[in-house]
Amino acid sequence: MFLYVLGLVAVWFIYRWLKETQRVPNKEDKYVYVTGCDSGFGNLLARHLDKLGFRVVAACYTEKGEDELKKMTSDRLTTIHLDVTDSESVKKAAAVIETLVGQKGLWAVVNNAGVAFPSAPHDWLKIDDYKSMLAVNLLGVIDVTLSVLPLIKKAKGRVVNVASVFGRISPFGGAYCVSKYGVEAFNDSLRLNMAPFGVKVCCIEPGFFKTNVTNKTLVKNNVNELWDRLPQEMKDDYGEEYLKIFYESMDQRFKQLIDADLMKVVSCMEHAISAVHPRTRYSPGWDAKTIWLPLSYMPTWITDGFFLKYSPKPKVSTLK
Ligand SMILES: NC(=O)c1ccc[n+]([C@@H]2O[C@H](COP(=O)([O-])OP(=O)(O)OC[C@H]3O[C@@H](n4cnc5c(N)ncnc54)[C@H](OP(=O)(O)O)[C@@H]3O)[C@@H](O)[C@H]2O)c1
Repeated sequence: MFLYVLGLVAVWFIYRWLKETQRVPNKEDKYVYVTGCDSGFGNLLARHLDKLGFRVVAACYTEKGEDELKKMTSDRLTTIHLDVTDSESVKKAAAVIETLVGQKGLWAVVNNAGVAFPSAPHDWLKIDDYKSMLAVNLLGVIDVTLSVLPLIKKAKGRVVNVASVFGRISPFGGAYCVSKYGVEAFNDSLRLNMAPFGVKVCCIEPGFFKTNVTNKTLVKNNVNELWDRLPQEMKDDYGEEYLKIFYESMDQRFKQLIDADLMKVVSCMEHAISAVHPRTRYSPGWDAKTIWLPLSYMPTWITDGFFLKYSPKPKVSTLK
């Protein structure tokens, strides 16, 4: 009986492996639009897809980003300027893409552009801190997608949305988790809406990787700036010790969790774009698979207990 079950599991794994290794043909005719290509995952993905032979439209936030990417890639790759928070910029980019792709349509869009600051406990923040991040991480994703959706439907192509493990579990304040939960919701309903048109929608939920989003200096500068603008009464409630413990625990967590191998994420993005049978979700990173996703399935009393135990407490905390 045991051998029979083992055999069935082995057959299932082989079947899945064979299914997942199949790739779409004619890469050289397929256009892929990637946002946020100045740095991090987007930059590496643009270079990787270019090497594989895809026609990449790499959207950069800065001119410097465009210039540097051009130097490293073939003339198949086109760079465009894009600010995902500016609808005019999104429309202009879509118009350029429409001209490039012609009757074939657009094979894939990868909604990768994102920001991680300002992030802090909710009571440190103002509504504009939320608006600025939601404008990039959530409304930007929706605007870019809608701007090219007719072209993707024409190609029966793909939408690849970069969310995060923090679209599945929400252990810290600020708009980041809110925005990524929003991306997950947009992703899931879009997947259903687009299925009848032969368009596949995939979500990437990375754990911690070494990019600007997890840059300790940038995180510390962001927290210091937000701390400095707090009223004295609030600073007294939290106490100076709070910041010290926050930085110590951040140093420790980042050391334990951050993975420098960005290819783990880029390989998932590439699979979502080029596999005949892409997955609906990808969770790159050992921490995503072994910590964050399992925690996301647990009862709230367990996850709350876990996060409260390991997070710094304000000086006036009533918790033991
Ligand atoms: N690193 C991680 O651990 C991690 C984990 C889970 C999810 N993610 C997600 O992965 C995605 C890529 O982030 P990353 O880690 O590769 O960090 P990153 O290097 O900071 O990449 C983000 C990119 O988005 C660009 N960008 C920022 N604001 C923009 C705007 N308004 N319009 C267009 N582009 C804009 C940035 O340009 P500039 O560089 O010029 O500012 C940068 O190229 C993000 O959605 C992030 O939330 C990251």
